[in-house]
Amino acid sequence: MSLSGNRVLVVGGGSGIGFAVAQAARAAGAVVTIASTSAERIAEAADRLSVQGAVIDVTDEAAVEAFFAAADGFEHIVTTAGDWGGPRRGPLADVDLAAAEGLFRVRFWGAVALAKHGAKVLTPGGSITLTDGMIAHRPTKGSAISTAMAGAVEHLTRGLAVELAPIRVNCVCPGLIRTGVWDRIPEERREAQFTEMTKGQLVPRIGEPGEAAEAYLYLMRGGYTTGQVLFVEGGSALGA
Ligand SMILES: NC(=O)c1ccc[n+]([C@@H]2O[C@H](COP(=O)([O-])OP(=O)(O)OC[C@H]3O[C@@H](n4cnc5c(N)ncnc54)[C@H](OP(=O)(O)O)[C@@H]3O)[C@@H](O)[C@H]2O)c1
Repeated sequence: MSLSGNRVLVVGGGSGIGFAVAQAARAAGAVVTIASTSAERIAEAADRLSVQGAVIDVTDEAAVEAFFAAADGFEHIVTTAGDWGGPRRGPLADVDLAAAEGLFRVRFWGAVALAKHGAKVLTPGGSITLTDGMIAHRPTKGSAISTAMAGAVEHLTRGLAVELAPIRVNCVCPGLIRTGVWDRIPEERREAQFTEMTKGQLVPRIGEPGEAAEAYLYLMRGGYTTGQVLFVEGGSALGA
């Protein structure tokens, strides 16, 4: 299935993996719109990519509904939206449960809002692709809530695939991917830390955003694939 002329919405497309998905989809001939909460970042990224930009906060259901009500339609919706604040790591004994609930707002409930309202404007044979992460499969100490949230996105994928058929719903599960989120590691230590973090993988290096983007493109094009999770994780599940 060709993406040429397909209208593709990438929520989270202003940076990181989403930016690479938007770039790859555009290179494949799609008509791409990127969206996120920051008008400034989206305008700058849309300019660099030569695509359309839109402001959407996936935690605001009314705004998501209004966006799709005003849209002509899409063949494919991708979300890589993710926020990085809040108590993502820490001993369970210290977890503030109200704050922990907030961890689900963008990645899980945001995906629900996009599916609920985006499905109304998807064309037949269209697709939705969600994003989770390997923390769903390789929990670490202090990550119980993040693990549950990422796992919930995978189960949401299966539920939505049944609920919304014939719209196809899939999920990409990335491992460690080189995006700006890792800029919080001081530059002089970053590469050494990537080496340390990936040394047990079958492909012992960090992944590039373009490598993750290939999975999203496959899931958009793959008309016979739904309810699936596609791993792009350098073999970390099978590694040490
Ligand atoms: N990079 C990795 O190693 C890695 C590993 C495993 C899983 N993942 C997952 O992959 C996804 C993308 O990660 P990334 O590394 O590309 O991160 P990123 O560069 O921070 O991208 C996340 C994007 O989400 C947007 N966003 C945040 N809150 C939003 C909201 N409420 N509504 C709409 N958009 C929102 C952000 O833009 P604004 O700030 O403008 O809203 C940003 O462009 C995340 O879900 C992450 O959990 C990444």
